[in-house]
Amino acid sequence: MSQLSTFMFFSFLVVFVLVSFSPVSYGYDPLDPNGNITITWDFLADNGDTYDVRVWIYNWQLYRHVEKPGWRLSWAWRGDEVIWSMSGAETTEQGNCSRFKGQEKPHCCEKQPTIIDLMPGTPYNKQVPNCCKQGILSSLTQDPSQVTSMFQMNFNKPSVLNPSNITVPANFSLGIPGYSCSDPTQVPPSKFTTDGRRWTQVLETWNVTCIYSQFLSASAPKCCVSLSAFYSDTIVPCPKCSCNCQGLPGANCVNSDKAPSLLKLPQDDSSTQETEPVVRCSQHMCPIRIHWHVKQSYTKYWRVKVTITNYNFVKNYSQWNLVLLHPNLQSLTQVFSFNYQPLRIFGDINDTVMFWGIKYYNDMLLTHGENGNVQTEMLLHKDAGIFTFTGGWGFPRTVLFNGDECVMPSPDNYPTLPNIAAFHSSSSSFLLFVSFILSMLLR
Ligand SMILES: *[C@@H]1O[C@H](CO)[C@@H](O)[C@H](O)[C@H]1NC(C)=O
Ligand SMILES: *[C@@H]1O[C@H](CO)[C@@H](O)[C@H](O)[C@H]1NC(C)=O
Ligand SMILES: *[C@@H]1O[C@H](CO)[C@@H](O)[C@H](O)[C@H]1NC(C)=O
Ligand SMILES: *[C@@H]1O[C@H](CO)[C@@H](O)[C@H](O)[C@H]1NC(C)=O
Ligand SMILES: *[C@@H]1O[C@H](CO)[C@@H](O)[C@H](O)[C@H]1NC(C)=O
Ligand SMILES: *[C@@H]1O[C@H](CO)[C@@H](O)[C@H](O)[C@H]1NC(C)=O
Ligand SMILES: *[C@@H]1O[C@H](CO)[C@@H](O)[C@H](O)[C@H]1NC(C)=O
Repeated sequence: MSQLSTFMFFSFLVVFVLVSFSPVSYGYDPLDPNGNITITWDFLADNGDTYDVRVWIYNWQLYRHVEKPGWRLSWAWRGDEVIWSMSGAETTEQGNCSRFKGQEKPHCCEKQPTIIDLMPGTPYNKQVPNCCKQGILSSLTQDPSQVTSMFQMNFNKPSVLNPSNITVPANFSLGIPGYSCSDPTQVPPSKFTTDGRRWTQVLETWNVTCIYSQFLSASAPKCCVSLSAFYSDTIVPCPKCSCNCQGLPGANCVNSDKAPSLLKLPQDDSSTQETEPVVRCSQHMCPIRIHWHVKQSYTKYWRVKVTITNYNFVKNYSQWNLVLLHPNLQSLTQVFSFNYQPLRIFGDINDTVMFWGIKYYNDMLLTHGENGNVQTEMLLHKDAGIFTFTGGWGFPRTVLFNGDECVMPSPDNYPTLPNIAAFHSSSSSFLLFVSFILSMLLR
């Protein structure tokens, strides 16, 4: 085969692969296939005309966490239920309770109540175990002791439905953009023990499963990736318009010199609404940029520097996390200034690693106004047989910030080794380039 026909054949192959394997996601996350947030209703007691229920929220996601302003759980009652009392959380509205004439009014009479967690530091007599975290849940990898929220309530049985049946409301929502929840399903009743010897069990348990989809969460990406390497002068920036385009309607950005007035925006820490990002003007328009720099090459190791920069003027990202996928991460030898843990998704393949900040040192990614960035350097062992600097191999395959996939530059713009012009010098380096693209798409 001549060089030209080889070129055409592989171009065709690349286009075909791009068309048939374009990464469309339907809420299924290949890096966290079992990740979900589960809402569990434990019916503790039947008091004749009311029920006592304990509601749990569990975050079973490897790297996605629930940050400020926290969850806002809601559902739709099937009948005329009202919530008489609640501890460990509260509803945002009491609603219209005028049909109750007596002195004692219910906690909430809304058909679709919205429940928010209490603030930390709530008086002990209003607390229950696992409550009062402002609706913030850690991810399973970052802090397994902080993945649960719980509250307890008492509500009346609906008069219009068969009173001998336990009814569970419908249309659950976590109030966090991107999550959609299943209908409740009855599961085997939960069991509890205080001494590890005797177990008690609740009357009935119902589960609701909520799954995240980046496409439901926001129409545009939230972060982008730029690249550089010691062997090249080229700094590959984030692709233009990664998250938005300057000048499009609805694309608001602020130039750095105008920022100080914005920084005086009142910041209410107890707010229950997410603040819209106000980003610094850039050609990518993303609130977050990740820069991967191949810094140095030693005999047995190579060194990578990763910098996360916050372009959002109105948000400090607390408990931020980063997930990187690169084949050489299986031989990650040392990481400076970040915590990390490999994510074992498919048995022994540990090419995916989650990174997060060190408490009180860099676990908060400050706003751009505070010159916000955090950085790490890591050492990777050059594994014989797979390590190479050619064909863009030294750059990450996938980058996620706070569980959202970041926009990568196109591989044909990657910094190249000096004297290797992928398309002209030899067809073997071109083949390497093609196989790199294929491996990226087919991973
Ligand atoms: C939810 O997560 C739990 C724990 O990872 C898992 O056992 C369960 O199968 C998941 N449920 C769904 C519907 O994915
Ligand atoms: C739940 O939502 C669906 C669709 O919006 C609606 O038809 C149904 O009546 C709701 N269920 C309850 C109990 O309100
Ligand atoms: C409150 O509910 C009662 C009936 O329970 C109704 O008559 C009244 O109009 C409602 N008030 C408002 C402000 O919706
Ligand atoms: C409601 O209860 C009745 C009698 O207790 C039972 O026959 C019926 O199957 C129950 N319905 C549902 C939907 O559980
Ligand atoms: C129901 O949810 C709880 C909490 O997430 C979980 O431990 C339990 O396994 C779930 N039950 C089923 C049958 O999925
Ligand atoms: C971010 O944190 C810094 C330092 O703690 C604080 O001064 C600033 O007001 C915070 N900004 C926002 C938007 O929360
Ligand atoms: C990845 O897995 C291999 C073999 O299972 C192990 O030797 C290596 O230490 C792991 N690397 C990391 C960073 O955990």
